[in-house]
Amino acid sequence: MKHALVLFASPRKNGISKIVAEPFLSGFPKKDFSFRCINLYDANINPCLGCYSCVSNSRCVHKDDMRDILEFFKISDIIACIGPVYFYSVSSRVRLFIERCFPLVKASHITSSFSKEKASNIKKKSFFAISVAAGMDKELCENIGQMYGAFSEAMNMNFAGSILRMESIYLKYPSLNPQKVGTIKAALSSAAAELAKDGTVCEKTKDAISARISNSDEEFAHHASMFWQKMAK
Ligand SMILES: Cc1cc2nc3c(=O)[nH]c(=O)nc-3n(C[C@H](O)[C@H](O)[C@H](O)COP(=O)(O)O)c2cc1C
Repeated sequence: MKHALVLFASPRKNGISKIVAEPFLSGFPKKDFSFRCINLYDANINPCLGCYSCVSNSRCVHKDDMRDILEFFKISDIIACIGPVYFYSVSSRVRLFIERCFPLVKASHITSSFSKEKASNIKKKSFFAISVAAGMDKELCENIGQMYGAFSEAMNMNFAGSILRMESIYLKYPSLNPQKVGTIKAALSSAAAELAKDGTVCEKTKDAISARISNSDEEFAHHASMFWQKMAK
């Protein structure tokens, strides 16, 4: 039996991250596979205190939901994170989660029982992330991929990719471009199936998920203005 831990990182339960998460989750196999979806905004996760207690105890001093989440993390084959871009980065809840992963960090220079326990107990896993953003400033959000790549390395995970799904407004209003939105949803399902099968997502699938939707900058500006006017009502 394989396991996936899917971290949902939007405070808007029925927002665009959910529209992305649904086809992704539906792509996991139904047989011999289990996934657990955790809404990071519902979980009780306290901030890392930087006390390094976990270095000697392999355990955080906080008695909160991260204890249970990290137990599932250990046995998972796949970790996926889906959430919005906030100010060209991940949301604060994702940072909170990442910082609290320190008890499991790959500590190549720590030679205590801490690192031995970790090496033997933690299943090798793949990490994949999808960040949804309303705008078009992809270059300004590329730090997200670098951060997730470094996080994967620190946690000894295979980095399967970090996708920026810009122009997220089209997922909310698929009738503006039903064909492209349909292709994106199909690719999201494929990504989960590929992750479940061999822990990677092929470039073609990643490109299909992140493909540009609008036909021109002018068209995007027009649709974005319609979107924000509706949001302002
Ligand atoms: C605090 C905040 C900051 C945001 N920053 C960005 C940003 O830097 N770039 C961008 O394209 N969209 C930004 N957005 C828009 C969201 O990323 C976008 O609407 C996303 O689809 C929201 O996902 P959700 O519906 O799951 O909440 C921001 C939204 C909020 C609330």
